[in-house]
Amino acid sequence: MSKPVYRCTACFAELKQWQGQCLKCKEWGTVKEVSGSSEGRGRPSPGAANLPTYLEDLAIEQDRKVSTGSEAVDSLLGQGIPPGSVLLLSGEPGMGKSTFLLQLASRLNQMGHKGLYVSGEESLGQIRQRSERLGLLERGPLFLNTTSCDDILAVLEKSSPAVVVVDSVQTMHAGSAEGIPGSVSQVRAVSSLLVEAVKRAGIVLFLVGHVTKEGQIAGPKLLEHMVDTVLYLEGDKQHLFRIIRVVKNRFGPTSNILVLKMMDSGLQIVNDPSTFFLEARDPSLSGTALIMAREGHKSFVIEVQSLVSRSFLTMPRRTALGLDTNRLNLLLAIAEKKLSLKLGQMDIYAKIGGGLKIEEPSLDLGLTAAILSSYFDRCLPEKGVFWGEVDLNGQVRPVVGHEERLRQARMLKYRPIICPAGPGSREEDADRDLILIRNILDLPQKLFGKKP
Ligand code: TYD
Ligand code: MG
Repeated sequence: MSKPVYRCTACFAELKQWQGQCLKCKEWGTVKEVSGSSEGRGRPSPGAANLPTYLEDLAIEQDRKVSTGSEAVDSLLGQGIPPGSVLLLSGEPGMGKSTFLLQLASRLNQMGHKGLYVSGEESLGQIRQRSERLGLLERGPLFLNTTSCDDILAVLEKSSPAVVVVDSVQTMHAGSAEGIPGSVSQVRAVSSLLVEAVKRAGIVLFLVGHVTKEGQIAGPKLLEHMVDTVLYLEGDKQHLFRIIRVVKNRFGPTSNILVLKMMDSGLQIVNDPSTFFLEARDPSLSGTALIMAREGHKSFVIEVQSLVSRSFLTMPRRTALGLDTNRLNLLLAIAEKKLSLKLGQMDIYAKIGGGLKIEEPSLDLGLTAAILSSYFDRCLPEKGVFWGEVDLNGQVRPVVGHEERLRQARMLKYRPIICPAGPGSREEDADRDLILIRNILDLPQKLFGKKP
């Protein structure tokens, strides 16, 4: 039998026993027994008015997060996944969403978290082949091939799994809503039915969502609001690597990333991504510079390439791959003005190696160095690494994560390290291995011993 619960009618505090005076608000004669226990969670009993409560009265839920069995995936999500949470994994077709979730659901199942993988995209035969190839056939989760949301709800009732994957939300159809699968009304209906069912039963739900060409999750933005965690799986299909980015997380950190490699045996976690993106690099060529980039809490080295060549067009070309064209144009204008480069008659191309996309401003200094390197046809120091934001007046400014980048660059034995002064690198620390730059005016001299 549940214990009686007492509540102050003045301040709504919940008390373990009856008192003449409320311990919280010190009012007399306001403590009353409330029928039906709220199970000590400060939550009103069903049927009772929904009353406010003090957070300190709220019993903290035991840490019941589901571990994925992989330290890297757990820490990406915030030390595991709370039961009853809904995660949306979105990405372009062919990125590896189904592969990732098949691997995850199989691992969770092997660890005793009963899984159900619902596919509306592939037949069970196709999934079987893939599972077999990935060595996940034994002790795998239950599979269901359907596009009916009602089918899924019926199976959830019967088989009560701990983890469910629905691949994809755009292929599912709810009888209660109008429209074809993938339409706004269907996506909304399907996801709200599934979210409600898993919240009630404490099941972890992974929804797969496709993104459109413009990079948005197909279907309403509402889908992102309805789920607890939004993950983006990104990468370049021509390259091996993939990144999972946490863009929303109600239960843990955002801004985390996980770097993965697509192999014949499925997606593999890259535990140390610090030099992974360099692949086969030839440092003896001009026009390439290394950048210490930073995503989430990870720093890694990437290559930025530039090609400056005489143009035969009336409107010389400016092309940027993996970085913002505006940023390139801005840096070219600064270089033209401050370093007196003659760029007006040049075609200029810039590209991030490995097919990565980089948006952070720390790219500026290295990109400027790569442009100079190609312009003068002089290669940069083989193990040199750059970071720093360049202002419109040519000043080089420190960027977020300066100390961490410095630590990482030193650990990986990059030298010289060329960056602005910042926390952990004062002017007096500068030496042959650490070149501190205040303005890009100094860059040609420091790199090639030239005055602009
Ligand atoms: P998939 O998981 O089907 O992508 P999504 O569900 O996001 O559309 O996988 C996409 C690609 O990955 C597919 O074209 C083949 C490739 N792949 C591998 O290279 N190795 C593998 O082990 C697997 C399963 C897939
Ligand atoms: Mg798929």
